[in-house]
Amino acid sequence: MTSDSTVSQHPLFSITTPLYYVNDLPHIGSAYTTIAADVVSRYHRLLGHPTLFVTGTDEHGQKIQRTAEEKGRSPQEHCDMVVQGFQSLWKLLNIRYDRFIRTTDPRHEAIVREFFQRCWDNGDIYLGQQQGWYCVACEEYKEERDLLDKHYCAIHTNRQAEWRDESNYFFRLSRYQDRLEALYQEHPDFIQPVIRRNEVLSFVQQGLKDFSISRVNLDWGIPLPTDPQHTIYVWFDALLGYVTALLDTDQEATLEQALSTWWPLHTNLIGKDILRFHAVYWPAMLMSAGVPVTQRVFGHGFLTKDGQKMGKSLGNVIDPVDLVKRYSSDAVRYYFMKEIEFGRDGDFNETRFVNILNADLANDLGNLLNRILKLAHKYCDGKVPILKVEAIAPSNALKTPGLDLADRVMPHYESLAFSQACEPILALIRIGNKYVDEQAPWSLYKQGKTDEAAIALYSVLETVRLAAYLLSPIVPTLSTRIYQQLGYAINFDGDPEQFTSLIHHREWGVLEVGQPLGQPEPVFQRLELQTTDIG
Ligand code: MSP
Repeated sequence: MTSDSTVSQHPLFSITTPLYYVNDLPHIGSAYTTIAADVVSRYHRLLGHPTLFVTGTDEHGQKIQRTAEEKGRSPQEHCDMVVQGFQSLWKLLNIRYDRFIRTTDPRHEAIVREFFQRCWDNGDIYLGQQQGWYCVACEEYKEERDLLDKHYCAIHTNRQAEWRDESNYFFRLSRYQDRLEALYQEHPDFIQPVIRRNEVLSFVQQGLKDFSISRVNLDWGIPLPTDPQHTIYVWFDALLGYVTALLDTDQEATLEQALSTWWPLHTNLIGKDILRFHAVYWPAMLMSAGVPVTQRVFGHGFLTKDGQKMGKSLGNVIDPVDLVKRYSSDAVRYYFMKEIEFGRDGDFNETRFVNILNADLANDLGNLLNRILKLAHKYCDGKVPILKVEAIAPSNALKTPGLDLADRVMPHYESLAFSQACEPILALIRIGNKYVDEQAPWSLYKQGKTDEAAIALYSVLETVRLAAYLLSPIVPTLSTRIYQQLGYAINFDGDPEQFTSLIHHREWGVLEVGQPLGQPEPVFQRLELQTTDIG
């Protein structure tokens, strides 16, 4: 059996975050996925690719209904309040999404109903009896072997799964066993990184069971079109949010319209805990409805704090809002992208956070620019020194590694290896610092060796520029400040249209000689460790 018709390449780039539950305010895990998605989309926009970045919220289901009841609000009121918390955090974190889909959007219901009908018409939905342990926090039935003692959930260790025995509609997942296996075989990059792919393969090899896609005794959700006593299971509903999000405001809410431009999506970025839904259930649902599957599902790792699992009961939850307010969005973005290998689990430790930011951005990068700008103001009338850029010898310590820097960085952005993307940039910046110490351009000027001094100044300014350009998807504010001090009126947070004329900025040797430079001011303030308990 082949799955070929289900995967096709698309010239546009699109990426989604999960649609976050609104039972509570966003936590650092949601911030982590969203930062990564923002970095990838900024990278594609920088290259002038048409790009769509989708995020949003998952608002139906028992978990939200119960939370709203506990807080004495209606579910809709509750969602409306919590959504604001997400949107304001994304603003604080400098997240530039294109679409924000809420699954309570009335147009979403139309999409879910149409999609459900397609699966129904295809004979993939039937009524059966569901018995099993349900974790409301996961919104998922659990196998007994996956639960802890006394049926506590292994993910939400303070929550007990509840026994359910009820009539539910099922989706015939078992029917897609062969097609899914063919998909994984023929498109080995469909699930990334490899460790996640292997998890999915071994899960699927155990044999796929049909899964329940309706709930009874639940009001907060979309009624099943063929039997309104039932409510559509929140995951079946939420995954389709990725489709509804693609509708332009003036488009009719039909599958045909929603799928017309951006489908198939390129990347579904998720955390490893929701891999099965995205890499098994979701492609099977799409196959059932005759819709091509997403090109790539990337499951990143989990964050811990000081080596420990984060949780409210442990009192060690990191509040992303507090972190950004105390240290800036660039600092938070940089730490999570540079310090943690994307795909693996990673740790947050505040002392390390402060040390890394100070070492990389305040000292190595910021001070380097500052030292050279001061020299340019002292000796070159505040301008980029005049010289023949082509005449800088290939033996120059910064030119040769600068010339192919973009080639060594960009493939890592493509494969979401953010930490590896940063490495060669920072390595070159460290070479830059060594180069300045060795060349000592101030003493070259004093000795009247102005040509040599000009080469040294130019090489460093250009290297810092290139670093700022290549780091801009991760630290857009810092990169903008650097560019402005180098005399450019470019804002990496501005209109993506401007980037098409900057494509050549990925090369070394772009800085114009004689360009007036800005005043030297620290581009990244040193951070002080703040001992406030941020739990
Ligand atoms: N609503 C579903 C997704 C539906 S997508 C159609 C959901 N929402 S969630 O709010 O619980 O998920 C949030 C995301 O945060 C998931 O990708 C999850 O993996 C991630 N994280 C939750 N805790 C995390 C850490 N401690 N570390 C890193 N990411 C973690 O699931």
